[in-house]
Amino acid sequence: MFVVVGVSGGIAAYKTVHLVRRLIADGHEVHVVPTDDALRFVGLTTWEAISRSPVTTSVHDDVATVRHVSLGQRADLVIVAPATANTLAKMAAGLAGDLLGTTLLATTAPVVVAPAMHTEMWRHPATAANVATLRERGVAVVGPDDGPLTGGDSGPGRMSEPDAIADAAYAAAAGEPTGDLAGLRVVVTAGGTREPIDPVRYLGNRSSGRQGAALAAAAADRGADVTLIACNIDASVLAEMPRGVSVARAGTALELRDATRAAASGADVVVMAAAVADYRPAEVAEGKVTKEEAGDRLTLVLVENPDIVAGLAADRAEGQMIVAFAAETASGDDLLARARRKRERKGVDLLVVNRVGWERGFDVPDNRVTVIDRTGEPVAEAEGPKRTVADAIWRAVRDARA
Ligand code: C5P
Repeated sequence: MFVVVGVSGGIAAYKTVHLVRRLIADGHEVHVVPTDDALRFVGLTTWEAISRSPVTTSVHDDVATVRHVSLGQRADLVIVAPATANTLAKMAAGLAGDLLGTTLLATTAPVVVAPAMHTEMWRHPATAANVATLRERGVAVVGPDDGPLTGGDSGPGRMSEPDAIADAAYAAAAGEPTGDLAGLRVVVTAGGTREPIDPVRYLGNRSSGRQGAALAAAAADRGADVTLIACNIDASVLAEMPRGVSVARAGTALELRDATRAAASGADVVVMAAAVADYRPAEVAEGKVTKEEAGDRLTLVLVENPDIVAGLAADRAEGQMIVAFAAETASGDDLLARARRKRERKGVDLLVVNRVGWERGFDVPDNRVTVIDRTGEPVAEAEGPKRTVADAIWRAVRDARA
């Protein structure tokens, strides 16, 4: 293949040297297109020597070959590694102020980016919006990984390892899904059930569905084929679902059970993020319950709903992974002890525990979770925007499946 490797100005550029070596070793013709800033990290000599081709950053060099578009036109595959926040923003805007910019606009080849930046920059809404735009255009995003960063801090932002980038790039070139969940079928339930009392009233809960929606979006971005079963979720929460998520709806716990059972057959992973009512009114009144009839005291008789996730875990097919959530108002050791009992009772593989309260967990953009596995030990902790938490949960799922 004719592979263009764009390099932008981040310290991770030194890892891209190994990526170019791998591509050359695999027999490809590689042309490196660094930005000016990239050359402050790794020099032109290194790129030329390692790629065995001439390297320039400028659209004004080698004009006779119409280089500013010819590289993009000839490319079978374009990889940008590292892709800094600045370069992702330029790509999203379609800026063409240097050779990398013109090359990216001139190509119709699959484009793969490997972001690298500090966690705050990666989580910034501007970067998140740029990455979403690029994904929407079909750009494959590899990583970033979670781990130590240059300043001694740690978190999501490390560029993926060269072999992981090469593997994802080859998959993209072959038209296959990329990402660590590629090829997996996952089901995510989200929102809260509403149990009717009469034609106009219901028993419900404060779940907005944001965490579940973030889980569905993150899974699709990581390459999975996703069914999101949405329980009473506001349309605005579902507005930006990526391609790869098909949305089904359920209102009550019984509807959710039926929808989840149907979707779960053949799924590799089921994540029950929905807040399910434990009880429902034993009888639903035909007409609106009025004060005239009920007087000054109204008694509702409730019956227990089936535990959907426990049922799924008991009936699961070989190899299927079931993940439940536990919304707890307890804290510390008490929280963990309750979570362990719940995981065991439900028979699930992973339990995501989140602390909720009047101002925490429900209907807010941020969340804080601990994931425990079958041993009862915490295998992941995450705090921050629900999308960040969602990615941490999928990493835990991926690792638990490995
Ligand atoms: O027991 P608790 O409601 O705390 O358990 C929460 C977990 O169990 C969540 O994953 C929720 O979706 C699931 N659940 C269920 N069916 C119920 C109640 C909860 O699947 N009836």
